[in-house]
Amino acid sequence: MIEIRNLSKRYGNFEALHHIDLSVRKGEFLVILGASGAGKSTLLRCINHLTEPTTGEITVDGVRSQGDRAGLRSVRRDVAMIFQHYNVVPRLSVLKNVLTGRLSAMPAVLSWFQLFPRADIDIARDSLRRVGLEAKADVRTDTLSGGQKQRVGIARALAQRPKVILADEPVASLDPKTSRSVLTCLREASRESGITVICNLHQVDYAMEFGERIIGVAGGRVVFEGRPDELTEEALHRIYPEGVDKPDPAATAAQAHAAAPQAMAAPARAKASLLPPQQQYTLEKT
Ligand SMILES: Nc1ncnc2c1ncn2[C@@H]1O[C@H](COP(=O)(O)OP(=O)(O)O)[C@@H](O)[C@H]1O
Ligand SMILES: [Mg+2]
Repeated sequence: MIEIRNLSKRYGNFEALHHIDLSVRKGEFLVILGASGAGKSTLLRCINHLTEPTTGEITVDGVRSQGDRAGLRSVRRDVAMIFQHYNVVPRLSVLKNVLTGRLSAMPAVLSWFQLFPRADIDIARDSLRRVGLEAKADVRTDTLSGGQKQRVGIARALAQRPKVILADEPVASLDPKTSRSVLTCLREASRESGITVICNLHQVDYAMEFGERIIGVAGGRVVFEGRPDELTEEALHRIYPEGVDKPDPAATAAQAHAAAPQAMAAPARAKASLLPPQQQYTLEKT
């Protein structure tokens, strides 16, 4: 469904992506896992031409996507995007936010006057039903919780009837319980409609729980590719060469109490396993 060949992206002298090759199957739920600054957003933005690649070729469903007008129109029609901060219009109703997913399929004059064809309203309501927000169609979007706003983001993407959904850290602003329910919602929607999803995440546990396949990115390079059960401790150290940004309480306490200079030099970063506890157990067993 998506073929990426030799993709590189430079910002001035800085190379954010180095020669990325990647194939994504139709209907696959692919997770791009990496620390902040790894290049995850740049990769997604190149796929839908929010950013122009410096070199390389991207093909979506057999069509080579290019930054020209026709190429942009095709990619904007077929590829929907979900953002960390939802990108909803707060004062508009939930239904109208979802209807904006239909804009590319609608004559501009109708959208200027917010006149939406019946068929588009039906599609938008159906999308809201699929994310469990049918009852909220007519309320202002700023009255919703974060998790509900992200469901609106998913419904808007579905209303576009896309072939591909690109989700850029869709749960980074949500608590764990809400995150799981939003990711479940996205996975169900993609399964139901055979939509290919590429989802950027920086949390290992969600990547292992939701990814059918994981691509690990560090310093703009692919450093791991495989199923969640293939994600070893060693692979995680490649994906997070700096470790995870969690201060280790034991190390901090030891430093506070230690008088010896060598104890003061102990790294403050957690040396503990990078794997979430339940996966540590799974991997140790297997
Ligand atoms: N518009 C830009 N101009 C210059 N540097 C950028 C720009 N966007 C991203 N970068 C840099 O490219 C690298 C990758 O960024 P990004 O793709 O946002 O990473 P991630 O999404 O994994 O956090 C970072 O070092 C970032 O500072
Ligand atoms: Mg990012």
